[in-house]
Amino acid sequence: MDHFAYREGALHAEAVPLAAIAEAVGTPCYCYSTATISRHYRVIADAFAGRDSLIAYSVKANGNLAVIATLAKLGAGADVVSEGEIRRALAAGVAPDKIVFSGVGKTREEMAYALSSGVLHFNVESEPELAALVALRVNPDVDAGSHDKISTGRRHDKFGIAIEQAPALYARAAALPGLEVDGVDVHIGSQLTDLEPFRRAFGRAIELVKGLRSDGHAIRRLDLGGGLGIPYTEEAPPSPAAYAEMVFALTEGLDCRIVLEPGRVIVGNAGVLLARVIYVKEAEARRFVIVDAAMNDLVRPAMYAARHAIATVAEPAPGAVFEAADVVGPICESGDTFATQVALPALAAGDLIAFRSAGAYGAVMASTYNGRLLVPEVLIDGDRWAEVRPRMEYETLLAMDRLPEWLRETVAS
Ligand code: LLP
Repeated sequence: MDHFAYREGALHAEAVPLAAIAEAVGTPCYCYSTATISRHYRVIADAFAGRDSLIAYSVKANGNLAVIATLAKLGAGADVVSEGEIRRALAAGVAPDKIVFSGVGKTREEMAYALSSGVLHFNVESEPELAALVALRVNPDVDAGSHDKISTGRRHDKFGIAIEQAPALYARAAALPGLEVDGVDVHIGSQLTDLEPFRRAFGRAIELVKGLRSDGHAIRRLDLGGGLGIPYTEEAPPSPAAYAEMVFALTEGLDCRIVLEPGRVIVGNAGVLLARVIYVKEAEARRFVIVDAAMNDLVRPAMYAARHAIATVAEPAPGAVFEAADVVGPICESGDTFATQVALPALAAGDLIAFRSAGAYGAVMASTYNGRLLVPEVLIDGDRWAEVRPRMEYETLLAMDRLPEWLRETVAS
Protein backbone atom coordinates (compact mmCIF):
# COMPACT_ATOMS: atom_id res chain seq x y z
CA MET A 1 0.00 0.00 0.00
CA ASP A 2 1.50 3.32 -1.06
CA HIS A 3 0.39 6.77 -2.15
CA PHE A 4 1.64 6.72 -5.73
CA ALA A 5 -1.31 6.45 -8.10
CA TYR A 6 -2.67 7.68 -11.40
CA ARG A 7 -5.07 10.61 -11.24
CA GLU A 8 -6.47 12.13 -14.38
CA GLY A 9 -4.00 10.22 -16.48
CA ALA A 10 -0.86 11.23 -14.58
CA LEU A 11 1.14 9.45 -11.87
CA HIS A 12 0.91 11.38 -8.62
CA ALA A 13 2.69 11.17 -5.30
CA GLU A 14 -0.18 11.98 -2.93
CA ALA A 15 -1.71 15.14 -4.47
CA VAL A 16 1.37 16.18 -6.48
CA PRO A 17 1.87 15.18 -10.14
CA LEU A 18 5.33 13.65 -10.51
CA ALA A 19 5.75 15.41 -13.85
CA ALA A 20 5.61 18.76 -12.02
CA ILE A 21 8.45 17.68 -9.74
CA ALA A 22 10.51 16.44 -12.69
CA GLU A 23 9.93 19.80 -14.37
CA ALA A 24 11.02 21.75 -11.32
CA VAL A 25 14.05 19.79 -10.08
CA GLY A 26 15.01 17.81 -13.18
CA THR A 27 15.65 14.11 -13.53
CA PRO A 28 16.76 11.74 -12.23
CA CYS A 29 15.36 12.44 -8.79
CA TYR A 30 14.02 10.49 -5.84
CA CYS A 31 10.51 11.27 -4.59
CA TYR A 32 9.26 10.15 -1.17
CA SER A 33 5.70 10.11 0.11
CA THR A 34 5.18 11.24 3.70
CA ALA A 35 1.78 9.54 3.91
CA THR A 36 3.32 6.22 2.91
CA ILE A 37 6.23 6.52 5.34
CA SER A 38 3.83 7.44 8.17
CA ARG A 39 1.39 4.69 7.31
CA HIS A 40 4.07 2.00 7.33
CA TYR A 41 5.46 3.24 10.63
CA ARG A 42 1.99 3.34 12.18
CA VAL A 43 1.09 -0.16 11.02
CA ILE A 44 4.12 -1.47 12.90
CA ALA A 45 3.61 0.82 15.89
CA ASP A 46 -0.06 -0.20 16.14
CA ALA A 47 0.83 -3.89 15.90
CA PHE A 48 3.17 -3.49 18.88
CA ALA A 49 1.01 -1.03 20.81
CA GLY A 50 0.48 -2.12 24.39
CA ARG A 51 3.81 -3.93 24.39
CA ASP A 52 6.93 -2.49 25.93
CA SER A 53 8.71 -1.86 22.64
CA LEU A 54 10.92 0.52 20.69
CA ILE A 55 10.72 0.87 16.93
CA ALA A 56 14.18 1.97 15.92
CA TYR A 57 14.01 2.93 12.24
CA SER A 58 17.04 1.58 10.44
CA VAL A 59 18.64 4.75 9.11
CA LYS A 60 20.78 2.88 6.58
CA ALA A 61 17.67 2.30 4.43
CA ASN A 62 17.16 6.02 3.83
CA GLY A 63 19.21 8.53 5.78
CA ASN A 64 17.74 11.76 4.46
CA LEU A 65 17.23 14.11 7.41
CA ALA A 66 13.68 14.88 6.30
CA VAL A 67 12.80 11.18 6.20
CA ILE A 68 14.28 10.54 9.64
CA ALA A 69 12.57 13.68 11.01
CA THR A 70 9.22 12.50 9.62
CA LEU A 71 9.64 9.28 11.59
CA ALA A 72 11.08 10.95 14.70
CA LYS A 73 7.97 13.13 14.86
CA LEU A 74 5.87 9.97 14.97
CA GLY A 75 7.92 8.65 17.89
CA ALA A 76 10.39 6.39 16.11
CA GLY A 77 13.87 5.74 17.42
CA ALA A 78 16.83 4.98 15.19
CA ASP A 79 19.04 2.00 14.46
CA VAL A 80 22.43 3.31 13.36
CA VAL A 81 25.70 1.75 12.23
CA SER A 82 28.17 4.62 12.11
CA GLU A 83 29.01 8.01 13.59
CA GLY A 84 27.55 9.59 10.45
CA GLU A 85 24.24 7.87 11.06
CA ILE A 86 24.23 8.88 14.75
CA ARG A 87 24.79 12.46 13.66
CA ARG A 88 21.99 12.20 11.12
CA ALA A 89 19.57 10.74 13.68
CA LEU A 90 20.40 13.41 16.27
CA ALA A 91 20.18 16.21 13.69
CA ALA A 92 16.75 14.93 12.66
CA GLY A 93 15.49 15.10 16.23
CA VAL A 94 15.72 11.49 17.42
CA ALA A 95 16.25 11.42 21.18
CA PRO A 96 19.62 9.80 22.06
CA ASP A 97 17.91 7.33 24.37
CA LYS A 98 16.02 5.96 21.37
CA ILE A 99 19.15 5.26 19.35
CA VAL A 100 20.62 1.76 19.12
CA PHE A 101 24.11 1.36 17.71
CA SER A 102 24.73 -1.82 15.68
CA GLY A 103 27.53 -2.83 13.33
CA VAL A 104 30.31 -5.34 13.01
CA GLY A 105 33.18 -2.85 12.79
CA LYS A 106 32.56 0.04 15.13
CA THR A 107 35.77 2.00 15.67
CA ARG A 108 36.86 3.29 19.07
CA GLU A 109 36.23 6.84 17.86
CA GLU A 110 32.70 5.94 16.86
CA MET A 111 32.04 4.22 20.17
CA ALA A 112 33.40 7.22 22.05
CA TYR A 113 31.15 9.52 20.05
CA ALA A 114 28.15 7.27 20.67
CA LEU A 115 28.85 7.19 24.41
CA SER A 116 29.25 10.96 24.60
CA SER A 117 25.98 11.48 22.78
CA GLY A 118 24.17 9.12 25.15
CA VAL A 119 22.83 6.40 22.86
CA LEU A 120 20.53 3.80 24.40
CA HIS A 121 22.58 0.71 23.79
CA PHE A 122 25.29 -0.93 21.73
CA ASN A 123 24.69 -4.17 19.92
CA VAL A 124 28.13 -5.67 20.28
CA GLU A 125 29.26 -8.16 17.68
CA SER A 126 32.62 -9.47 18.81
CA GLU A 127 34.76 -10.18 21.82
CA PRO A 128 37.15 -7.28 21.20
CA GLU A 129 34.20 -4.94 21.23
CA LEU A 130 33.36 -5.96 24.80
CA ALA A 131 35.08 -2.87 26.12
CA ALA A 132 31.95 -0.88 25.41
CA LEU A 133 29.39 -3.63 25.54
CA VAL A 134 25.78 -3.34 26.55
CA ALA A 135 24.05 -5.96 24.43
CA LEU A 136 25.37 -8.85 22.43
CA ARG A 137 24.27 -9.58 18.90
CA VAL A 138 24.14 -13.31 18.51
CA ASN A 139 24.41 -15.21 15.28
CA PRO A 140 21.68 -17.86 15.49
CA ASP A 141 22.85 -19.83 12.42
CA VAL A 142 19.59 -19.40 10.54
CA ASP A 143 19.46 -18.87 6.79
CA ALA A 144 17.17 -15.96 5.96
CA GLY A 145 16.43 -17.45 2.54
CA SER A 146 16.96 -14.01 1.04
CA HIS A 147 19.55 -12.82 -1.50
CA ASP A 148 22.99 -14.11 -0.54
CA LYS A 149 24.43 -10.60 -0.12
CA ILE A 150 21.72 -9.60 2.35
CA SER A 151 21.60 -12.75 4.47
CA THR A 152 23.52 -12.22 7.68
CA GLY A 153 22.53 -14.89 10.17
CA ARG A 154 24.37 -17.95 8.90
CA ARG A 155 27.31 -19.43 10.77
CA HIS A 156 29.81 -18.29 8.13
CA ASP A 157 28.47 -14.72 7.92
CA LYS A 158 30.62 -12.04 9.52
CA PHE A 159 27.92 -10.80 11.84
CA GLY A 160 27.33 -11.37 15.50
CA ILE A 161 28.71 -13.82 18.00
CA ALA A 162 28.11 -17.55 17.55
CA ILE A 163 25.20 -18.36 19.79
CA GLU A 164 27.04 -21.20 21.58
CA GLN A 165 29.80 -18.79 22.63
CA ALA A 166 27.40 -16.22 23.94
CA PRO A 167 27.04 -17.44 27.56
CA ALA A 168 30.81 -17.32 28.12
CA LEU A 169 31.05 -13.84 26.61
CA TYR A 170 28.15 -12.56 28.71
CA ALA A 171 29.95 -13.88 31.78
CA ARG A 172 33.12 -12.06 30.76
CA ALA A 173 31.22 -8.87 29.94
CA ALA A 174 29.42 -8.89 33.28
CA ALA A 175 32.78 -8.97 35.02
CA LEU A 176 34.01 -5.86 33.18
CA PRO A 177 33.68 -2.55 35.00
CA GLY A 178 31.29 0.12 33.80
CA LEU A 179 29.18 -2.17 31.68
CA GLU A 180 25.60 -3.22 31.95
CA VAL A 181 24.80 -6.34 29.95
CA ASP A 182 21.07 -6.23 29.54
CA GLY A 183 20.12 -7.37 26.07
CA VAL A 184 20.25 -9.89 23.30
CA ASP A 185 20.18 -8.81 19.67
CA VAL A 186 19.63 -10.77 16.49
CA HIS A 187 19.27 -9.77 12.82
CA ILE A 188 19.35 -12.48 10.19
CA GLY A 189 18.98 -10.60 6.93
CA SER A 190 16.89 -8.32 4.81
CA GLN A 191 13.95 -8.65 2.40
CA LEU A 192 12.58 -11.78 4.08
CA THR A 193 9.29 -12.87 2.57
CA ASP A 194 8.60 -15.73 4.97
CA LEU A 195 8.12 -15.74 8.76
CA GLU A 196 9.77 -19.11 9.30
CA PRO A 197 13.45 -18.01 9.42
CA PHE A 198 12.45 -15.24 11.85
CA ARG A 199 10.62 -17.74 14.03
CA ARG A 200 13.63 -20.06 14.21
CA ALA A 201 16.13 -17.28 14.91
CA PHE A 202 13.95 -15.58 17.51
CA GLY A 203 13.28 -18.94 19.16
CA ARG A 204 17.03 -19.44 19.58
CA ALA A 205 17.52 -15.90 20.88
CA ILE A 206 14.74 -16.43 23.44
CA GLU A 207 16.31 -19.68 24.63
CA LEU A 208 19.51 -17.69 25.10
CA VAL A 209 17.69 -15.01 27.11
CA LYS A 210 16.32 -17.71 29.42
CA GLY A 211 19.72 -19.38 29.76
CA LEU A 212 21.45 -16.08 30.50
CA ARG A 213 18.85 -15.23 33.10
CA SER A 214 19.41 -18.51 34.84
CA ASP A 215 23.14 -17.67 34.83
CA GLY A 216 22.18 -14.55 36.76
CA HIS A 217 22.19 -11.87 34.03
CA ALA A 218 19.32 -9.39 34.14
CA ILE A 219 18.31 -9.48 30.47
CA ARG A 220 15.64 -6.87 29.87
CA ARG A 221 15.90 -6.20 26.15
CA LEU A 222 15.45 -8.35 23.11
CA ASP A 223 16.40 -6.66 19.83
CA LEU A 224 14.94 -8.56 16.88
CA GLY A 225 16.59 -6.52 14.13
CA GLY A 226 14.92 -5.66 10.84
CA GLY A 227 14.42 -7.65 7.69
CA LEU A 228 10.71 -7.78 6.91
CA GLY A 229 10.39 -7.81 3.13
CA ILE A 230 8.21 -5.71 0.82
CA PRO A 231 6.46 -6.44 -2.48
CA TYR A 232 8.73 -5.24 -5.32
CA THR A 233 6.92 -7.15 -8.06
CA GLU A 234 5.23 -10.45 -7.20
CA GLU A 235 6.50 -11.02 -3.67
CA ALA A 236 3.87 -11.46 -0.96
CA PRO A 237 5.66 -10.82 2.33
CA PRO A 238 3.90 -11.33 5.66
CA SER A 239 2.15 -8.28 7.11
CA PRO A 240 3.59 -6.44 10.11
CA ALA A 241 0.54 -7.67 12.02
CA ALA A 242 1.37 -11.31 11.25
CA TYR A 243 4.99 -10.63 12.19
CA ALA A 244 3.86 -9.06 15.47
CA GLU A 245 1.60 -12.00 16.23
CA MET A 246 4.49 -14.40 15.74
CA VAL A 247 6.67 -12.29 18.04
CA PHE A 248 3.95 -12.13 20.70
CA ALA A 249 3.43 -15.89 20.61
CA LEU A 250 7.16 -16.53 21.01
CA THR A 251 7.78 -13.94 23.72
CA GLU A 252 4.72 -14.58 25.83
CA GLY A 253 5.62 -14.22 29.50
CA LEU A 254 9.23 -13.34 28.65
CA ASP A 255 9.02 -9.88 30.21
CA CYS A 256 11.48 -8.25 27.85
CA ARG A 257 11.39 -4.93 26.06
CA ILE A 258 11.17 -5.65 22.33
CA VAL A 259 13.34 -3.52 20.06
CA LEU A 260 12.71 -3.61 16.30
CA GLU A 261 14.95 -2.20 13.58
CA PRO A 262 12.76 -1.95 10.49
CA GLY A 263 14.16 -0.12 7.49
CA ARG A 264 12.92 -1.28 4.10
CA VAL A 265 9.39 -2.07 5.25
CA ILE A 266 8.90 1.56 6.30
CA VAL A 267 10.50 3.46 3.44
CA GLY A 268 10.87 0.98 0.57
CA ASN A 269 7.53 1.50 -1.10
CA ALA A 270 7.40 5.14 -0.04
CA GLY A 271 9.84 6.19 -2.76
CA VAL A 272 10.25 6.21 -6.52
CA LEU A 273 13.17 7.16 -8.70
CA LEU A 274 11.98 9.40 -11.52
CA ALA A 275 13.87 9.21 -14.79
CA ARG A 276 13.48 10.55 -18.29
CA VAL A 277 13.89 8.58 -21.49
CA ILE A 278 16.91 9.80 -23.44
CA TYR A 279 16.64 7.49 -26.44
CA VAL A 280 14.68 4.52 -27.59
CA LYS A 281 16.99 2.25 -29.52
CA GLU A 282 15.48 -0.44 -31.69
CA ALA A 283 18.20 -3.05 -31.96
CA GLU A 284 17.87 -6.42 -33.59
CA ALA A 285 14.99 -8.14 -31.80
CA ARG A 286 15.39 -5.85 -28.77
CA ARG A 287 13.96 -2.54 -27.78
CA PHE A 288 16.29 -0.61 -25.47
CA VAL A 289 14.85 2.25 -23.47
CA ILE A 290 17.84 4.34 -22.42
CA VAL A 291 17.04 6.55 -19.46
CA ASP A 292 18.95 9.28 -17.64
CA ALA A 293 19.13 7.33 -14.35
CA ALA A 294 21.89 4.80 -13.96
CA MET A 295 23.35 2.15 -11.68
CA ASN A 296 25.17 4.84 -9.71
CA ASP A 297 21.78 6.32 -8.73
CA LEU A 298 20.04 3.00 -7.99
CA VAL A 299 22.48 0.11 -7.71
CA ARG A 300 20.09 -2.61 -6.48
CA PRO A 301 19.38 -4.21 -9.89
CA ALA A 302 23.09 -4.43 -10.71
CA MET A 303 24.15 -5.49 -7.23
CA TYR A 304 21.43 -7.87 -6.09
CA ALA A 305 19.60 -8.69 -9.34
CA ALA A 306 16.72 -6.77 -7.76
CA ARG A 307 13.67 -5.98 -9.86
CA HIS A 308 11.96 -2.63 -9.43
CA ALA A 309 8.58 -2.31 -11.12
CA ILE A 310 8.54 0.42 -13.77
CA ALA A 311 5.58 2.75 -14.29
CA THR A 312 5.19 5.33 -17.00
CA VAL A 313 4.36 8.72 -15.50
CA ALA A 314 1.70 9.27 -18.17
CA GLU A 315 -0.99 6.65 -17.60
CA PRO A 316 -1.14 4.20 -20.51
CA ALA A 317 -4.31 4.82 -22.54
CA PRO A 318 -6.97 2.10 -22.29
CA GLY A 319 -6.05 -0.59 -24.78
CA ALA A 320 -2.45 0.64 -25.12
CA VAL A 321 -0.14 -2.00 -26.54
CA PHE A 322 2.59 -3.20 -24.19
CA GLU A 323 5.78 -4.54 -25.70
CA ALA A 324 8.95 -5.99 -24.23
CA ALA A 325 11.83 -3.62 -23.60
CA ASP A 326 15.15 -3.52 -21.78
CA VAL A 327 15.46 -0.44 -19.60
CA VAL A 328 19.07 0.63 -19.27
CA GLY A 329 21.14 3.54 -18.01
CA PRO A 330 23.90 5.44 -19.82
CA ILE A 331 26.86 3.95 -17.90
CA CYS A 332 29.47 2.04 -19.84
CA GLU A 333 28.84 -1.44 -18.48
CA SER A 334 26.24 -4.06 -19.23
CA GLY A 335 25.41 -4.22 -15.54
CA ASP A 336 23.79 -0.82 -15.91
CA THR A 337 20.49 -2.50 -16.68
CA PHE A 338 17.35 -1.86 -14.65
CA ALA A 339 15.08 -4.38 -16.32
CA THR A 340 15.28 -6.96 -19.06
CA GLN A 341 12.33 -7.73 -21.31
CA VAL A 342 9.64 -5.98 -19.29
CA ALA A 343 6.31 -5.11 -20.86
CA LEU A 344 6.05 -1.35 -21.38
CA PRO A 345 3.80 0.87 -23.47
CA ALA A 346 5.27 2.87 -26.34
CA LEU A 347 7.86 5.34 -25.06
CA ALA A 348 9.65 8.19 -26.74
CA ALA A 349 12.57 10.44 -25.85
CA GLY A 350 11.48 12.89 -23.18
CA ASP A 351 8.90 10.60 -21.55
CA LEU A 352 9.08 10.10 -17.80
CA ILE A 353 9.18 6.77 -16.01
CA ALA A 354 9.24 5.88 -12.32
CA PHE A 355 11.17 3.02 -10.74
CA ARG A 356 8.89 1.92 -7.93
CA SER A 357 9.89 0.77 -4.43
CA ALA A 358 13.08 2.83 -4.52
CA GLY A 359 12.70 4.49 -1.11
CA ALA A 360 15.00 2.03 0.66
CA TYR A 361 18.65 1.44 -0.26
CA GLY A 362 18.31 3.79 -3.23
CA ALA A 363 19.69 7.28 -2.61
CA VAL A 364 21.81 6.04 0.31
CA MET A 365 23.75 3.69 -1.96
CA ALA A 366 24.28 6.20 -4.76
CA SER A 367 27.74 7.16 -5.93
CA THR A 368 29.32 9.59 -8.37
CA TYR A 369 30.62 6.80 -10.62
CA ASN A 370 31.13 7.94 -14.21
CA GLY A 371 31.42 11.53 -13.00
CA ARG A 372 27.70 11.67 -12.33
CA LEU A 373 26.17 13.96 -9.74
CA LEU A 374 24.23 12.67 -6.74
CA VAL A 375 20.58 13.24 -7.60
CA PRO A 376 18.02 15.34 -5.71
CA GLU A 377 15.56 13.95 -3.20
CA VAL A 378 12.06 15.36 -2.84
CA LEU A 379 9.62 14.83 0.02
CA ILE A 380 5.92 15.10 -0.76
CA ASP A 381 3.31 15.73 1.92
CA GLY A 382 -0.25 16.06 0.63
CA ASP A 383 -0.24 18.87 -1.90
CA ARG A 384 3.08 20.33 -0.81
CA TRP A 385 6.58 19.16 -1.61
CA ALA A 386 10.14 20.20 -0.89
CA GLU A 387 13.54 19.39 -2.27
CA VAL A 388 15.11 17.74 0.77
CA ARG A 389 18.43 17.25 -0.98
CA PRO A 390 19.34 19.46 -3.91
CA ARG A 391 21.18 18.06 -6.90
CA MET A 392 24.90 18.02 -6.33
CA GLU A 393 26.82 20.60 -8.33
CA TYR A 394 29.83 19.97 -10.55
CA GLU A 395 31.87 22.39 -8.43
CA THR A 396 31.14 20.21 -5.38
CA LEU A 397 32.07 17.08 -7.30
CA LEU A 398 35.44 18.53 -8.33
CA ALA A 399 36.05 20.09 -4.93
CA MET A 400 36.01 16.64 -3.35
CA ASP A 401 39.51 16.05 -4.71
CA ARG A 402 42.81 17.82 -4.08
CA LEU A 403 45.80 18.03 -6.35
CA PRO A 404 49.15 17.35 -4.72
CA GLU A 405 51.59 20.17 -4.89
CA TRP A 406 53.68 18.42 -7.59
CA LEU A 407 50.78 18.28 -10.02
CA ARG A 408 49.40 21.76 -9.60
CA GLU A 409 51.73 23.26 -12.10
CA THR A 410 50.74 20.71 -14.74
CA VAL A 411 47.10 21.67 -14.33
CA ALA A 412 47.71 25.42 -14.19
CA SER A 413 49.77 25.42 -17.42
N1 LLP B 1 19.29 -4.00 11.59
C1 LLP B 1 20.50 -4.43 11.16
C2 LLP B 1 21.51 -4.82 12.12
C3 LLP B 1 20.76 -4.48 9.76
O1 LLP B 1 21.95 -4.91 9.34
C4 LLP B 1 19.76 -4.08 8.84
C5 LLP B 1 20.01 -4.11 7.40
C6 LLP B 1 18.52 -3.62 9.34
C7 LLP B 1 18.33 -3.61 10.72
C8 LLP B 1 17.40 -3.15 8.45
O2 LLP B 1 16.95 -4.18 7.65
P1 LLP B 1 15.63 -3.99 6.76
O3 LLP B 1 14.46 -3.87 7.70
O4 LLP B 1 15.80 -2.78 5.94
O5 LLP B 1 15.59 -5.24 5.95
N2 LLP B 1 21.36 -2.85 0.59
C9 LLP B 1 20.55 -4.05 0.65
C10 LLP B 1 19.98 -4.29 2.04
C11 LLP B 1 21.04 -4.37 3.12
C12 LLP B 1 20.48 -4.54 4.49
C13 LLP B 1 21.55 -4.39 5.52
N3 LLP B 1 21.12 -4.48 6.88
C14 LLP B 1 19.44 -3.96 -0.39
O6 LLP B 1 19.40 -2.98 -1.14
O7 LLP B 1 18.63 -4.88 -0.50
